[in-house]
Formats: sequence, C-alpha cells, structure tokens
Amino acid sequence: MGIKEKIFMGQVLKMSWNEALINGSFRDMWDLSYPSQELVAFIATINFPKVTIGLDVGCGAGREAIFLAQHGLNMIGVDLSAEALRSAAERAKEAGEQVDWRHGNVLDLPVEDQSVDFVNDRGCFHTIAEEERDQFAREIGPHPQAGWDDVAQRLS
Ligand SMILES: C[S@@+](CC[C@H](N)C(=O)[O-])C[C@H]1O[C@@H](n2cnc3c(N)ncnc32)[C@H](O)[C@@H]1O
Repeated sequence: MGIKEKIFMGQVLKMSWNEALINGSFRDMWDLSYPSQELVAFIATINFPKVTIGLDVGCGAGREAIFLAQHGLNMIGVDLSAEALRSAAERAKEAGEQVDWRHGNVLDLPVEDQSVDFVNDRGCFHTIAEEERDQFAREIGPHPQAGWDDVAQRLS
C-alpha cells in the first residue's frame, strides 16, 4: 500500500492505513470503543429477518462488524489491511463472535453478487478517490438483495 497524504478528521494523514494500524495510531484517529450512534439507532429501529447476511466494507479493526454480529447478523468484514483484520479477529475472539473476515479491496469485493442483505460502511467510502467512487457504487450496488432500497431510504 502506498504512502497517502490526505486530510482525515482534521489531521494530515501521511501514512498508509496499514502503518496506522501497525503503530496503533488508528486508535486515536478513527477507532471508537463503541459502535457509531447512527448504527446503534439503525439497529434499534429495524427488525432484520432471522437470517441476515451483513457486509462491513473497510471494516478496519472490526468494531462495527462485531457489534452487528452481536445483534444476530451473519457478518462478513472486508478490509485492504491484513493488520486490521488480525486485530479484528482478536477482538471477535474476545467477544465470542464469529465474523468471516476477508482480505480484499472494496473496489473488487471478494463477495459473491446478491449474496448479502445489508452493507455497513463507516469511514471507507470517504477514503476512496473521487475517480474511483463510481466503481465503489458499482461494486456495492449489486450486493444487497431485495429490500436494499428500503434500507437505503431509512438511512438517507
Ligand atoms: C477510517 S478506517 C474505518 C475502519 C472501520 N470501518 C471503523 O469504523 O473503525 C477506513 C478503513 O478502510 C480500509 N480501506 C480503505 N480503502 C479500502 C479499500 N479500497 N478496500 C478495502 N478496505 C479499504 C482501511 O484499511 C481502513 O481499515
């Protein structure tokens, strides 16, 4: 992964995601010790079918994928960073939750089309370069099954 220099949460980020994950600075930059309030509110207001497959894109160290697994979803977490996925797997083990962690690029998802019901993204889309955002939308678009429009509407 190359060196990036971009503004992230008001700071100039001069390192790759992996570096931030390896040296632990990700904890101060984006890793919350609790899931985001938007996700908590969303989960509180929706009744997922008993078997729901969720995908967390750019899952990082796994906090939200684990939260969703704790709420009954069968979760897949995808991230570019192997280091992030190692931390995520450790956290899932500590929490006693099963998540299918997959190393890969959201621009070419290692997930079969039409195989997930719900997609969560906290902090990944905004890291995607402007010229790659159409590709992001194309990759995410075919993944959620019927019902996605409803979910998207609730989120918008
Ligand atoms: C700001 S962090 C957010 C992590 C996590 N969602 C959270 O809320 O803690 C962004 C994450 O997106 C991942 N990422 C960035 N570009 C990606 C891509 N093209 N494909 C997969 N993951 C990507 C990074 O490795 C990083 O873990």
